[in-house]
Amino acid sequence: MADVPNIKVTIDNITIEVPLGTTILEAARKIGGDVTPPAMCYYSKLEGSGGKCRTCLVEVSKGSEKDPRPMPKLVASCRTSVMDGMEVKNITSEKVKDGRAGVVEFLLINHPLDCPVCDQAGECNLQDLGYGHGKAGTRYEFERRTFEKHDLGPYIQLHMNRCILCYRCVFTANQLTDKRCHGVLDRGEHAEIATFIEKNLDNEFIGNVIDVCPVGALTDKTFRFKNRVWFLKPMDAHRDCPTCSGKVTLWNRGDEVFRVTARKDKWGEVEEWICNECRFEKKHASDWVIEGPRKIDRHSVIAQGHYQGGVGTTKPQETLPEVMGRDPRLLMDIHDVSEVNEPGRDLSKIEGPAHSDDFKESPILPK
Ligand code: SF4
Ligand code: FES
Repeated sequence: MADVPNIKVTIDNITIEVPLGTTILEAARKIGGDVTPPAMCYYSKLEGSGGKCRTCLVEVSKGSEKDPRPMPKLVASCRTSVMDGMEVKNITSEKVKDGRAGVVEFLLINHPLDCPVCDQAGECNLQDLGYGHGKAGTRYEFERRTFEKHDLGPYIQLHMNRCILCYRCVFTANQLTDKRCHGVLDRGEHAEIATFIEKNLDNEFIGNVIDVCPVGALTDKTFRFKNRVWFLKPMDAHRDCPTCSGKVTLWNRGDEVFRVTARKDKWGEVEEWICNECRFEKKHASDWVIEGPRKIDRHSVIAQGHYQGGVGTTKPQETLPEVMGRDPRLLMDIHDVSEVNEPGRDLSKIEGPAHSDDFKESPILPK
């Protein structure tokens, strides 16, 4: 293959050289930090991804050395290639800040603010985007789309209410498995992720759709409602797996394994795809060789635990049996008993943070 020439691009006043054909987003990732635009649909490991969510919009204030005219509109950085001498503004552009706030408002038109009961809380791209770029409020007055929860096979549950139609799971299933039976059906307001004639997604790599989903739309049924991620200690571990690399992150509390995921890089992307057996069926510490604590970005809520990991870590004290004098006979699934999470209740119509007074009509709360 012929050598690809390097060209110069300046992003937020920082100049770097990248090979011709690099996208603005990938060039910004080489610089790193705040200069890198957020990405909700682009995934470097998935061919054809990007161009759906518009969160990565940037301003091109100089097109190239040859044609220095600025681009008339903000452009999706994951789908726009750099040109020699191009100048790009991300955090230094007021237009980008305004545009991105508008994109967040659009993404939140239908997405429920159910972070308190959503398993993705603490590692949700949309939650981070909302905090970083969103506005406090919405102008949307129409009814939101709501869907019933949907089981996609034995291990995965789809909450279509939360889906932002980024297509990552569709690309993952398409490119990792030989039997894709789900996709985006219908278009526009009616578009939804659905299985083809209710078929299960039973391919041995299909669990990876959970890891690529930027929101809590695809969740792990073996982990749902068992714990909050910021109470868990992520540990790198591996096993001799005949199907995949066997390199995973275990999410532990003491020596108890609550969840197994693929390892993710600093952009939140899976480093190596893992198989369903590693993800869903190996939930004992003895199944794994523990390597040590996973390095978590210090800005993440998960890093706030300042944990010390390793084999033989002390399990946090469980006070419930102590208080009750015996082990609990029944642990309830919050989703089954919480009326607060019913789809008809419109949390966005409540002024300020929700309070128990807002749920006076609830049949499960005392009047
Ligand atoms: S289910 Fe998740 S990964 Fe799939 S399109 Fe919706 S948001 Fe994207
Ligand atoms: S990340 Fe570029 S459009 Fe979604």
